[in-house]
Amino acid sequence: MNSPAHQRMDRTMTSRRTIARTLPLLPAALAAFPSTASAAGGGETALVVTGLLTAVVAVLLFYVVFVLEGNIDPAAERLRKAWAYIAARKRADERELDEDFDGIRELDNPSPPWFNYLFVGTIIFAAIYMLDYHVLGGSPLSVEEYRREVAEADVLRRVALAAEGTVDEAQLAALTDAEALKAGKEKYDRNCVSCHGAAGQGIVGPNLTDARWIHGGGVRNVYLTIKNGVPAKGMIAWKLVLTPKEMQQVASYVLSLQGTNPPGAKAPEGEVWVEPKAAAAPDSTKAI
Ligand code: HEC
Repeated sequence: MNSPAHQRMDRTMTSRRTIARTLPLLPAALAAFPSTASAAGGGETALVVTGLLTAVVAVLLFYVVFVLEGNIDPAAERLRKAWAYIAARKRADERELDEDFDGIRELDNPSPPWFNYLFVGTIIFAAIYMLDYHVLGGSPLSVEEYRREVAEADVLRRVALAAEGTVDEAQLAALTDAEALKAGKEKYDRNCVSCHGAAGQGIVGPNLTDARWIHGGGVRNVYLTIKNGVPAKGMIAWKLVLTPKEMQQVASYVLSLQGTNPPGAKAPEGEVWVEPKAAAAPDSTKAI
């Protein structure tokens, strides 16, 4: 009764039964995959996920039907063993050490293998990381990443400046149209209020509403002071932040504050500025 031929027949019978049981489920499974995938993200991702899942199902199907001939028991047993190995060794209560202190028993409770793999994995990762980042220099360190980003931003800034055009500093005129002054006020409110006050009355920086100027009045001098800043006194060179057009706007706005006499104004500093005669050459002592 237990001849190899019988065994083979037995197995074939089981196989047929397994296939008969599983096959009806497959179309449903296949139909379910695309819908879950498209719910997950839509578009290309869904397409890739659907393709991958379909391929996995097809390979599994092929394996079960043609390689295992429908009998999935051996494969399931192998999977179970592999999992048992990865998940945990013998249960602690099955592995007792020879120690017994007045009824207190010491158990051999080893850390599970997956934990050890993780630990070894971190060491391998660290070695690869160090080789890549610090020895071979294949990937950029943070400093290098920062430098690249700054260089990229600089290029973008230059492009933006070039697109906007420069202002002719020798022929600079104060803008008076409402739109330019509004744009200037926006820049002023964002960048200058902390030192010069909301109304230009002066806080750390000098009062901008009076007739006296430390670095010269008139649109050209004010523009150049804004552009180059007074680094020694804490006023940065705004050419690093604002475009020429924006500096012209904000200079025009500053000049529009002349004589407004806001409350709590700082005492005037510097010299009273007298606009030179129209024919006079532009102030050449101011560094550009
Ligand atoms: C961190 C503080 C600070 C900020 C922000 C700042 N300034 Fe100044 N600013 C100063 C100081 C301080 C001085 C005086 C420099 C000196 O004494 O030589 C000054 C001087 C000036 C002057 C010359 C005044 C004069 O009497 O000649 C102008 C014009 C000016 N700032 C405009 C601006 C504008 C416009 C902004 C915004 C885009 C701005 N400042 C932002 C601190 C600042």
